[in-house]
Amino acid sequence: MTEISRLRPEIQALQPSLVEWRRRFHQLPELGFCEQLTALFVSQKLTEWGIEHQTEIAKTGIVATIPGSQPGRVLAIRADMDALPIIEENEVPYRSVHPGVMHACAHDGHTAILLGVAYYLWQHRNFAGTVKLIFQPAEEGLGGAKAMIDAGVLKDVEAIIGLHLWNNLPLGTVGVRSGALMAASESFDCKILGKGGHGGLPHQTVDAVIVVTHVINVLQTIVARNVDPLEPSVVTIGQLHSGTKRNVIADTAELSGTVRYFNPELKDFFPERIEQVIAGVCQLHGASYEFNYQRISPPVINDAKMAELVRSVALSVMKIPHGVVPNCQTMAGEDMALYLQKVPGCFLFLGSANPEKGLGYPHHHPRFDFDETALGMGVEIFVRCVEIFCA
Ligand code: NI
Repeated sequence: MTEISRLRPEIQALQPSLVEWRRRFHQLPELGFCEQLTALFVSQKLTEWGIEHQTEIAKTGIVATIPGSQPGRVLAIRADMDALPIIEENEVPYRSVHPGVMHACAHDGHTAILLGVAYYLWQHRNFAGTVKLIFQPAEEGLGGAKAMIDAGVLKDVEAIIGLHLWNNLPLGTVGVRSGALMAASESFDCKILGKGGHGGLPHQTVDAVIVVTHVINVLQTIVARNVDPLEPSVVTIGQLHSGTKRNVIADTAELSGTVRYFNPELKDFFPERIEQVIAGVCQLHGASYEFNYQRISPPVINDAKMAELVRSVALSVMKIPHGVVPNCQTMAGEDMALYLQKVPGCFLFLGSANPEKGLGYPHHHPRFDFDETALGMGVEIFVRCVEIFCA
């Protein structure tokens, strides 16, 4: 949209193709590590244009390499390709035809943007060095980034950038900041082992329901009383299962939760403190427990220099006043974090909500959809980053 952003004519001209590709990906969504049709389409386009690329990295991943006009620095740009197990409720011509699978997090848009970047950079070769385009599978908690990194996609890469189309920001804005952008995402499961019995004879039992309710209450004091109030963090218990009948004292109780925080120094604190609480409460009641803690992704931490580069580019692309917003942190997680642990880089949010067009539902909602006008903006931002980083 020319009124709210500055796109060069060649990228404006790409917009209809970006929309076409995005809708194709949207209509044929695939879950993590099963992105065969998506990867095939990407590979066919790259082949058609004559761009060298490797397929089947970490099952369905692709890395395309575009050399500039002369040697120089190596910049990677990453997009994720997977969809979610959600039944789409949008009544649109490009609605998902794969039952129970939906692009409800805009990864279809990310893939289309990266294809657009490939096309533009290959046509123009207006940079020095090399650009590596990483089409990553399985971002949604399935380990796609780790698999790609283990396969060696960051070899020789000096810096990396990536974006998320973001319905928490309006179309025409970019969210970027130095330091923590998104939270660490971790989860835990706990099973309380009590001693079941007759509902009328509690003195013969260790009531797992009583133990687990105490556990939950004390777990809620961790953020409230053990973490520095200036360090944002969350402990959420999302699942609780116990009991079989109203007159039977439960033998066991199971609870599961998620933990979020920005400061990497809190990494060991949460699993230790959570287990301490569980162990202490169990001991008090004479119960025992099983405990399992999983790390899904660390916090997304942007490098100061790369964030400044992206911020200046975003300021030059976005036209509306205050189009670049620094207060854009979120407690959602992203496996882009793993690349950023290895090489300096920057992840940004590209505003894609447009409530006037009914495009404002949150990510992972069955009616999620975004304003496709943002696609061209994404290409313009990435291309300008390449032109500056690989000058
Ligand atoms: Ni996502």
